[in-house]
Amino acid sequence: MKNLYVIFTIIIGLSEITASDDWSYLGDNGPEHWPDLCISGKKQSPINIATEDTVKIDLGKLKFIRYDFAFQGKITNNGHSIQVQLCCVPIHLGGANLPSTYILEQIHFHWPAEHTIDNNRDALELHFVHYNEQYSNASMASQHENGIAVVATLFEMNSEDNLEIMSILKATELVSNAVGKTTALMETKIIPYLLLPKDHTTYYYYDGSLTTPGCQETVMWYILTEKLSISEQQLNIFKSVGTNNGTLSFNHRPTQIVGERAIYHHLDGYSAATIHLSNLVNVCFSLLLSKLLYFK
Ligand SMILES: *[C@@H]1O[C@H](CO)[C@@H](O)[C@H](O)[C@H]1NC(C)=O
Ligand SMILES: *[C@@H]1O[C@H](CO)[C@@H](O)[C@H](O)[C@H]1NC(C)=O
Ligand SMILES: [Zn+2]
Repeated sequence: MKNLYVIFTIIIGLSEITASDDWSYLGDNGPEHWPDLCISGKKQSPINIATEDTVKIDLGKLKFIRYDFAFQGKITNNGHSIQVQLCCVPIHLGGANLPSTYILEQIHFHWPAEHTIDNNRDALELHFVHYNEQYSNASMASQHENGIAVVATLFEMNSEDNLEIMSILKATELVSNAVGKTTALMETKIIPYLLLPKDHTTYYYYDGSLTTPGCQETVMWYILTEKLSISEQQLNIFKSVGTNNGTLSFNHRPTQIVGERAIYHHLDGYSAATIHLSNLVNVCFSLLLSKLLYFK
């Protein structure tokens, strides 16, 4: 088992903290003090999803392209999260209400979860961050409407270990105390599909923002309704990740105001509207028929 998850390369660089990185989840640089749109925005993320208030609709299936391939991963402790980049074939997201094809940029974790469902907060949330292929890179895309599409997988607590995230956790332990450019390449390949729940056709959708500064309001959010699981022991590996200012015991931003936004609940093949319409047609037809009969 141990051999299976051997990390064969660790590149340790000098930790490099830039001015734009000067934010945290607690204290003087915490969320209440994040700049610009983070404070003034009207379409911020994360949010609480009140399931009763969601609009049931068929937005179309998400298409996960090459998510079933095995990729070599590079892991980074950036001081705010554990981030994984996959090499070397592009991975795409399409379908649903996406206006274009989106390219997977990176995946990262939040502990505990950022989005809450009926005010229930899960243990962990995984973000698959994609950018619209019409832009040259993710930072350019994040400046434009619908530039970014994030698929989120929620993990709930379970007594059993989740075997699919074992290799990521092993690599996390190796970068835990080395913030900045520290990366490790994982010998075990990652199959992104295994980090999605079995049912990836049911999701909540809404328009929101990045959940870290600058909080750009250019994100199409897809929160998968089915959850994966993680054990407490596994979660503790994330909770002991180091930063330049102590341990990153949590890295979720507080939920933001929903405001005027609609939150959709995509259900594959949902057809309430169709039934309604055909009823209407029936009624009209009956009226017409009765008129014709009357005048005869
Ligand atoms: C370091 O963390 C403490 C709380 O743990 C916080 O009060 C302080 O503002 C932080 N310092 C910086 C520079 O973020
Ligand atoms: C993104 O693309 C723009 C324009 O092509 C370029 O100026 C910028 O340096 C790129 N940023 C990154 C992080 O690669
Ligand atoms: Zn995130």
